[in-house]
Amino acid sequence: MAANTFAHITGWGMSVPEKVLTNDEISEMVDTNDEWIRERTGIHQRHIAGPEDTSASLGGEAAIAALRVAKLHPNDVDLIIGATSSPEYIFPATACIIQDKIGAVNAGAFDLSAACTGFIFAVIMAAQAIQSGSIRNAVVIGAETLSRFVDWTDRNTCILFGDGAGAFVLQASHEQGGVLSSVMRSDGSGGDSLIIPGGGSAIPTSQQTIQEGQHFIQMNGREVYRFATRVMAKAANEAIDKAQLTIDDIKLIIPHQANKRIIEAAARGLKLPMERIVVNVHNYGNTSTASIPIATCEAIEDGRLNKGDQIVFVGFGGGLTWGALTATWTGPLTDEPRRLHITRYRRLARLRSFMRRLWRRLEGIIWGRKGSP
Ligand code: ACO
Repeated sequence: MAANTFAHITGWGMSVPEKVLTNDEISEMVDTNDEWIRERTGIHQRHIAGPEDTSASLGGEAAIAALRVAKLHPNDVDLIIGATSSPEYIFPATACIIQDKIGAVNAGAFDLSAACTGFIFAVIMAAQAIQSGSIRNAVVIGAETLSRFVDWTDRNTCILFGDGAGAFVLQASHEQGGVLSSVMRSDGSGGDSLIIPGGGSAIPTSQQTIQEGQHFIQMNGREVYRFATRVMAKAANEAIDKAQLTIDDIKLIIPHQANKRIIEAAARGLKLPMERIVVNVHNYGNTSTASIPIATCEAIEDGRLNKGDQIVFVGFGGGLTWGALTATWTGPLTDEPRRLHITRYRRLARLRSFMRRLWRRLEGIIWGRKGSP
């Protein structure tokens, strides 16, 4: 344990696909309507991935934007944690694909699976790695293309989800602040409330699983709703207590954006006016692990979050999982105008990746002739 090392959030970024899908457009696909969706969820529209967008492409853009804010070079990143509920593959990890895209050649990268709570869990893991002294700089990414896992004939789920990505940079500093406390909880007995049943080792993909739509998100909405309203305020309060703060010290709560009614219930539980809670679910729908960093970027853009503010992130999701953390908001550690020449750097990262693939092929040919090394 490194004495007095704090994990500060020093960079943030987001990326959403261009295409917007409105409630009216969804009501042409399934038996629903704009009024029902707005009233029951607060969602007005969501962004949907185009053919070129993937979780890694959106996540990579968000990561680069966050590094730019932190004025940190990708070479200086030690760890990348990708929190995603819609990974590119079962393996390799989406975080590894992002690592290659952004040219973070000195970073270890892995995915963390905790559904929508994944971003909170990942920030906690990165902060603890920094506080322990084992790393200095981390990038945490929540990236989703959930539209590819949604059954667009199921009105119970297709109205809810959207695509996008958000990222934080976390850095070590001896200055007091950054991540102060955390709460992580799970209840696996509720796993089937929110599940993609097919395609894993329990139910491998087959013609039958595809015919039955087992590769799509299946959800017991009422059960998830009851669970979410039970845990949100409780987890936030627990994290606030652990940080030895009171609710009055908290400038803003940034909750997972799943449903406006769930957020309002959490606000009632915390006895907080809605002005102190960030809500943007109307524009993006539920972007799972990306929702908290996207909401954070918008809160900063709107001037609602400033250096020195105490904040709480709180979320819930499949698993079942839920968690919260408190932090003192920091922003970039340096005023130095260290510019990342992003276009040049991206080209370099692509060239490096190409050369590595080429070298691997050549090695294969050489060793193929000579036998194993
Ligand atoms: N349009 C019109 N009617 C609908 C729709 C729709 N899109 N969907 C359901 N209905 C109908 C139902 O069939 C039902 O009709 P019935 O009474 O005749 O049976 C009626 O509306 C009420 O249905 P409920 O399911 O009770 O509606 P509810 O008010 O609970 O809202 C919702 C449903 C929005 C899904 C809500 O339960 C919810 O938000 N749950 C939480 C979901 C969530 O947050 N999931 C993500 C978790 S995070 C993660 O890990 C990915």
